[in-house]
Amino acid sequence: MNKIRVWDWPVRIGHWLLVGAFALAWITGESEEWRLVHAFAGGTVVGVVLFRLLWGVFGTRHARFSSFVRGPGAVLDYVSGLFRREESQYAGHNAAGGWAILALLSLGLLAGASGWLVYQDIGGEWLEEVHEALASGMLAVALLHVGGVVVSSLAHRENLVQAMFTGLKQGRPDEAISSTRPLAVVLLLGWVAVCAWWLAR
Ligand code: HEM
Repeated sequence: MNKIRVWDWPVRIGHWLLVGAFALAWITGESEEWRLVHAFAGGTVVGVVLFRLLWGVFGTRHARFSSFVRGPGAVLDYVSGLFRREESQYAGHNAAGGWAILALLSLGLLAGASGWLVYQDIGGEWLEEVHEALASGMLAVALLHVGGVVVSSLAHRENLVQAMFTGLKQGRPDEAISSTRPLAVVLLLGWVAVCAWWLAR
């Protein structure tokens, strides 16, 4: 096993942008004074998620949904393998993590859409409640996700957080991606800026 490149630039920049935007949206959520910042952060979450959905089809090998969305059998195999301290057979996202990612992307989109409607004064009190419940659900899944990252990192003796910065993980050379697509980051940032501006205006 060597260090190989698995995460392209859009996956890494998109991830940390999502983390920052979600955190900002969370801490500004209750304040009237920070309403514009909250809407801008929410718009950023929506922009990153929409880009990530496309990247899950057109992105590099390990970014594609087809490479990390697996059935319940694979999830059970992975989780039981963790207890047996087996080596991870996944160069990209593991089977359990894949479902957390889908949940985070779905909740991000739903929380963003409901938040936009509330921001436009559509839906009233009940939609505000729905928006808050979706955001709380997203926080719960995000905490579970971080817990999962720590457990997998310890079990496989590999720092997965560092890998989300460097793009490098242990793997076989034939599992490496051939390009990290740095230019697609320009598209990502441009798209996110348009979404954030449009949704917060
Ligand atoms: C500081 C807290 C966080 C850390 C350390 C962290 C770390 C990571 C790591 C290491 C991965 C790759 C997992 C793997 O190897 O399969 C990952 C993936 C992911 N994380 Fe996080 N995460 C954090 C918070 C969040 C939050 C708050 C969200 C959503 C609001 C989030 C959403 C995602 C998504 C969507 C992916 C998939 C990335 C992709 O394939 O594009 N993470 N995270």
